[in-house]
Amino acid sequence: MSAADPPVPLLAERAAACAERLRSADSVLLASHIDADGLTSGAIASSALERAGIDHETVFEKQLDEESIAGIASREFDTVLFTDFGSGQLDVIADHEAAGEFTPIIADHHQPADAETEYHLNPLLFGIDGASELSGAGASYVLAHALDADNRDLAALAIVGAVGDMQGGTEGLTGANEGIVDHAVAAGVVETRTDIALYGRQTRPLPKLLEYASDVRIPGISNDEAGAIAFLSELDIDVKADDGDWRRWVDLDDAERRTLVSALLQRAVSSGVPASRIEELVGTSYTLTAEEPGTELRDVSEFSTLLNATARYERADVGLAVCLGERGAPLERARTLLRNHRRNLSEGLQWVKSEGVIEEDHLQWFDAGSRIRETIVGIVAGMAIGSPAVDRSKPIVAFAEKDADHVKVSSRGSHRLVRQGLDLSAVMREASRSVGGDGGGHDVAAGATIPSGSQREFVAAANAIVGEQLGDE
Ligand code: C5P
Ligand code: C5P
Ligand code: C5P
Ligand code: ZN
Repeated sequence: MSAADPPVPLLAERAAACAERLRSADSVLLASHIDADGLTSGAIASSALERAGIDHETVFEKQLDEESIAGIASREFDTVLFTDFGSGQLDVIADHEAAGEFTPIIADHHQPADAETEYHLNPLLFGIDGASELSGAGASYVLAHALDADNRDLAALAIVGAVGDMQGGTEGLTGANEGIVDHAVAAGVVETRTDIALYGRQTRPLPKLLEYASDVRIPGISNDEAGAIAFLSELDIDVKADDGDWRRWVDLDDAERRTLVSALLQRAVSSGVPASRIEELVGTSYTLTAEEPGTELRDVSEFSTLLNATARYERADVGLAVCLGERGAPLERARTLLRNHRRNLSEGLQWVKSEGVIEEDHLQWFDAGSRIRETIVGIVAGMAIGSPAVDRSKPIVAFAEKDADHVKVSSRGSHRLVRQGLDLSAVMREASRSVGGDGGGHDVAAGATIPSGSQREFVAAANAIVGEQLGDE
């Protein structure tokens, strides 16, 4: 592969047109979304504009809606680059474009609304799945590469964004994302390997790595601190360092890692974990080679959680600085935010498990009120449906208070349900519009904002739509 080869050939022509338009802009307002994918999208686009000598300012929005788009339009920029959002609000953006307020350039992967614009870079327009094959950061990287093929180092951030949007399965990133991984590997910024597929390989002490592994439940180890410690103590490896502290996965050598993995697989088999789940214990991992081993930045999934911990708590500036390579104070700040984020996730998940969910015919739901922050209720819903405590055969819908008059809705499904016809993006859009709100997203994960008090009416509408989609009313 030569450095000039586009990462996603199907998008190359559109990306080149968008790049050309950016080069001719006087100054650009870059607007991006407040999550890991949005931050990495913003960092990629901002770096590429900077390197190309294109004057720009970067802003982050929780949600792009009529109000935030009007705010953007009121700024003195003739060109607006939207990353990781924009497609779903294209109808509103196109009205501002028609009024001559700005020229939009969009690098996004969400389901587009019913409108068109010239500089619209979205995998879904080219038959590529935006939920699993290319993220907002991926689309932004495609644009960055079109601006300059020397931008291949930015592919590392695109991988953080894709994994942050949960695009990686056990086989790792697939489809169009593979082209981005190839660029990152060729540029020497990312290494891939087959590894234990547990969250926290870089930073968690071994007992915590095993105890907190929630996706594949191993009886006597998962959610069982004493069990995890007992399991480790029986292994023929030193699980503690000379100073008596627990070692982490990253501290083990290859032979020690093999010993641990095979003992874990044996334990899973002997305790009756189904083979299909056991396979999920090993998968592709992505390591950022420039980052220090044993830090949150070294492993892409830990990096993406660190970013969510900033942007979803109104500190996108901190996450952006970390993405742009600043260390020291921003990184320390991000780590403090991460501890808070982890506590909130774990308390949120605990609350859902103890309250339980309400079952409808075609979906299940919970209303967290003000107990879970609206910016993380989607992550909690995703963790809940991934946990053994919650049934996976129906999508989950979660509510959290947004402000005095509005409720945030988040929904999560599974790839199996999507294959059966589920499209949560349509469910969220239609059900929210029926109660005077709006929403959208992806087939497997979507969200909405609705008026306070309309939750039950919304559930009834969503339940009916899911039933129609799955053809089992
Ligand atoms: O706005 P954005 O596209 O970044 O949000 C994607 C959301 O969808 C993330 O919160 C991610 O966790 C979720 N998702 C998921 N399962 C997938 C794909 C995405 O839960 N398979
Ligand atoms: O926060 P984020 O959406 O990036 O988290 C991705 C996944 O990482 C979660 O769904 C969860 O399974 C895992 N995670 C975890 N412990 C945390 C944070 C995230 O196991 N403290
Ligand atoms: O907020 P949450 O993580 O649940 O969002 C899931 C997906 O739905 C994201 O891709 C988000 O951008 C999208 N969404 C949307 N419109 C909303 C809320 C969420 O398109 N009003
Ligand atoms: Zn995204």
